[in-house]
Amino acid sequence: MAILVTGGAGYIGSHTCVELLNAGYDIVVVDNLSNSSAESLLRVTELTGKEFAFYPISLNNRPDMEGIFRNHRIEAVIHLAGLKAVGESVSVPLRYYHNNISGSIVLCEIMQEYGVKKIVFSSSATVYGTSEHVPITENAPLGATNAYGRTKLMIEEIMRDLHVSDSTWSIALLRYFNPIGAHESGRLGEDPNGIPNNLMPYITQVAVGGLKELQVYGDDYATTDGTGVRDYIHVVDLAQGHLKALEKVMETTGVEAYNLGTGRGYSVLEMVQTFERVTGRSVPYKIASRRPGDIGVCYSDPTKAERELGWIAHKGIDEMCLDSWRWQTSNPRGYVVENEMLANI
Ligand code: UD1
Repeated sequence: MAILVTGGAGYIGSHTCVELLNAGYDIVVVDNLSNSSAESLLRVTELTGKEFAFYPISLNNRPDMEGIFRNHRIEAVIHLAGLKAVGESVSVPLRYYHNNISGSIVLCEIMQEYGVKKIVFSSSATVYGTSEHVPITENAPLGATNAYGRTKLMIEEIMRDLHVSDSTWSIALLRYFNPIGAHESGRLGEDPNGIPNNLMPYITQVAVGGLKELQVYGDDYATTDGTGVRDYIHVVDLAQGHLKALEKVMETTGVEAYNLGTGRGYSVLEMVQTFERVTGRSVPYKIASRRPGDIGVCYSDPTKAERELGWIAHKGIDEMCLDSWRWQTSNPRGYVVENEMLANI
């Protein structure tokens, strides 16, 4: 029996694969590599000493997806495949709807056809929209402010309808807060295309000298220093949350949402200062205007995940910054460098 991991070559996917393999699961990975590199999967094998099947296809490729379910005894699915850039989703919404929503529908149809009804879905705190009542619990009002967020919200709703139609489905909707950090080996990490949109990869690229300075988007929020506050969570803690959710869906039926966060918020300037302190590098920044669509404060109440999944985040902000930095300095150009070096041999 195997666990199918969609989007397994990505940032969260690759760390989740390591945790699954280390826990003794057999895995099958599907990833169309549109925003990830197969190099990450080679490194998953390097770190775990374990091989696994990999299919470089899209979820919308129904015949090939069916082939996976025919060729492997899939027991449950961890579904992380999806496009995730907020700004891009506003420019090319149909691409987001086609990829994220149609892909999820094809996946669920095939699961249903093969009697596989256990799924852990990669949702996001973005489904809480502009809600600023913190800490945010799972029953806070939902809403989305952009196409990316709407795809996450719609997929959650599609999965709830699926459970209404057939109560033998078992579904965990994991609402991630702000994943940062990297595997402690420095071999796996976040490899954004082009100039990063998110805070931590931007900070590390400024610190390494690739970008001149950080723009701090707004210093007039109602927070201690006026800059935006978020709940940063180490990607390895997040990956372990998937294993706990998997154990849960294996033993129950139903549909439940869980916040995966630390329950603690840090401002942009606190992140800059912490990063500078633990790495000894300076991060020049300047205050810029607010980024459209941003909210001031967002952090989780993660107690439902602790109570029902037995999961809690262990890694603190220092470790998140150090691990992000180790990944950045050992892989200044992400996964590209090693591929190019291989090509030159
Ligand atoms: C963003 C997305 C969210 C998505 C998440 C994925 C938006 C509006 N939201 O969340 O939907 O699920 O990424 O990880 O894009 N900041 C700066 N300068 C920068 C970058 C960020 O000051 O160059 C600030 C932001 O204003 C915010 C904080 O840093 O206060 C975190 O930003 P970011 O890492 O982009 O995450 P979110 O906006 O929380």
